Amino acid sequence: MTPFPFFFILFFFCLFPFLPSSSSLHYPYNYSLHIDCGGLSNSTDIFNTTWVSDRYFTGGAISVVSEPLHFQHSQEKTLRYFPISSGKKNCYVIPNLSSGRYQLRTFTVYDNYDGKSHSPSFDVSVEGNVVFQWRSPWHEDITRAGAYSDLFFTVSDDEANVCFYSIATDSPVIASLEITQIDPASYLVNDTSILVNYGRFSSGSDQWGPGFSNDTDRFGRSWQSDTEFRSKVAGKTTGAIVKAISAIKNVINVDRAPNYFPLKLYQSAVTVIGEGGEFLEYQLPVDAKLDYLLWFHFAEIDVSVNKAGKRVFEIVVNGENVSRVDIYKEVGSFAAYDFKYVVKNLSSAELSVRFVPIVGAPVICGLENYAIIPADLKTLPAQVVAMKALKESLKVPDRMGWNGDPCAPTTWDAWEGVTCRSTTNGSLVISQIDLGSQGLKGYISDQIGLLSNLELKF
Ligand SMILES: *[C@@H]1O[C@H](CO)[C@@H](O)[C@H](O)[C@H]1NC(C)=O
Ligand SMILES: *[C@@H]1O[C@H](CO)[C@@H](O)[C@H](O)[C@H]1NC(C)=O
Ligand SMILES: *[C@@H]1O[C@H](CO)[C@@H](O)[C@H](O)[C@H]1NC(C)=O
Ligand SMILES: *[C@@H]1O[C@H](CO)[C@@H](O)[C@H](O)[C@H]1NC(C)=O
Ligand SMILES: *[C@@H]1O[C@H](CO)[C@@H](O)[C@H](O)[C@H]1NC(C)=O
Ligand SMILES: *[C@@H]1O[C@H](CO)[C@@H](O)[C@H](O)[C@H]1NC(C)=O
Ligand SMILES: *[C@@H]1O[C@H](CO)[C@@H](O)[C@H](O)[C@H]1NC(C)=O
Ligand SMILES: *[C@@H]1O[C@H](CO)[C@@H](O)[C@H](O)[C@H]1NC(C)=O
Ligand SMILES: *[C@@H]1O[C@H](CO)[C@@H](O)[C@H](O)[C@H]1NC(C)=O
Repeated sequence: MTPFPFFFILFFFCLFPFLPSSSSLHYPYNYSLHIDCGGLSNSTDIFNTTWVSDRYFTGGAISVVSEPLHFQHSQEKTLRYFPISSGKKNCYVIPNLSSGRYQLRTFTVYDNYDGKSHSPSFDVSVEGNVVFQWRSPWHEDITRAGAYSDLFFTVSDDEANVCFYSIATDSPVIASLEITQIDPASYLVNDTSILVNYGRFSSGSDQWGPGFSNDTDRFGRSWQSDTEFRSKVAGKTTGAIVKAISAIKNVINVDRAPNYFPLKLYQSAVTVIGEGGEFLEYQLPVDAKLDYLLWFHFAEIDVSVNKAGKRVFEIVVNGENVSRVDIYKEVGSFAAYDFKYVVKNLSSAELSVRFVPIVGAPVICGLENYAIIPADLKTLPAQVVAMKALKESLKVPDRMGWNGDPCAPTTWDAWEGVTCRSTTNGSLVISQIDLGSQGLKGYISDQIGLLSNLELKF
């Protein structure tokens, strides 16, 4: 989770000012939407991003952080929350999307907006999969300053569902929500998994990207500084000094399909200096029992490394040697070189990534770490249609929280009064509807016929 906005002066190295790759001229994935949750008017921020007023939500109320002057952007100051009177489950349903792959980014803040001095516990799902779990008490910095979180996911129909689920009586809260279309072949692990960002950093650089600087990233990715991920212990025990270096000319093979990694990522790096043999190490925060996708970014930007074999190092992940790297041998100098690796079924709550020298010192431009969230079960689409029709025809009140998928995510309660079961073929169906005590008046939609596994009680 990205903690909070930092602002720095940035350096550019523009000896070769404009070197676009041909694909960048025809970038077809240009849809993006930036919603200022709780905001009443459209606005454009200092980075020329257009924010639209709050829309596409199923319920809730709006509020403002308690100390608006502490926040840089107007979309960070207003928020939407979902009190229990709006139902246990509420969503943003983004309409009219083309099916494909997207980045979702949220800004979540508490800042005692409700005067209760109690940060809430709630879950967030995307397309029926739990992706973020906010648990009280939040980290002090995040409570006050908020946090950006992001992930990559696939939309298979024409809308994206981002849902919020109240734990106990806590009101979920959201300050902004952004969705950006990305290349359908990007970061592909498999079609159904969601990749949740657990750290994306640019080495030897300050925080940059959308919301933090004017530097562009086609996917809307922001890049943190690597400093807070660097292992302090390793530095101390070896007496090594970590040194940031910058490229004196542009790195090539950047901004290419399908991942469109930006040039700026490769223009800075860190290496280590000392008596020799010192390694570089990052400690990445993780939650156990998931698989993690690590994406490494390298470029040989030191002009003194001018042939293969002059800089060789190994990547060691949680003690396991996963690859030997000789950037020059792979791509020459001033060219991007990426390497990805999946850590399976992590058993510890920590992921250490070490760059161990073989010849010369290791060098790294950036690293991304994503939890691979496997797809949860979903309600059969026809039954979702039927339940939405039933909701309309029976005028089911907001407090019942009939929003999003009736049965998914499976770790949440189904819609109030609704019981679901899973079928042998791995989907969810409605097995019972009990609205006996709700005093609903309306008619039963014809579409109820689609609920073929149903036993009714009214
Ligand atoms: C986005 O891409 C589509 C083609 O995929 C193109 O027709 C449209 O003009 C583009 N929009 C912008 C704002 O560039
Ligand atoms: C904000 O912009 C959208 C289009 O992007 C427009 O439909 C809407 O009416 C605008 N809202 C306000 C409050 O100006
Ligand atoms: C970003 O660029 C715009 C226009 O070029 C400029 O007005 C603005 O000050 C820049 N913002 C920052 C934070 O550099
Ligand atoms: C800001 O964005 C608008 C379109 O959204 C564009 O026409 C304009 O050139 C941009 N301005 C800058 C300074 O980038
Ligand atoms: C979605 O697109 C259709 C036309 O394709 C349009 O009629 C409808 O108003 C759009 N809905 C929203 C919420 O923008
Ligand atoms: C997708 O990848 C995840 C993580 O490696 C795995 O748990 C899941 O079973 C895979 N799904 C398919 C359909 O291959
Ligand atoms: C680490 O793995 C690479 C291949 O991935 C291999 O070439 C190298 O010898 C290994 N190093 C050690 C110390 O085992
Ligand atoms: C993951 O590892 C744990 C022990 O660390 C083991 O109990 C579990 O079966 C493993 N799961 C898979 C899918 O390999
Ligand atoms: C799964 O089983 C249900 C009945 O239990 C059936 O209605 C549905 O069509 C099946 N789905 C698929 C994809 O086979």
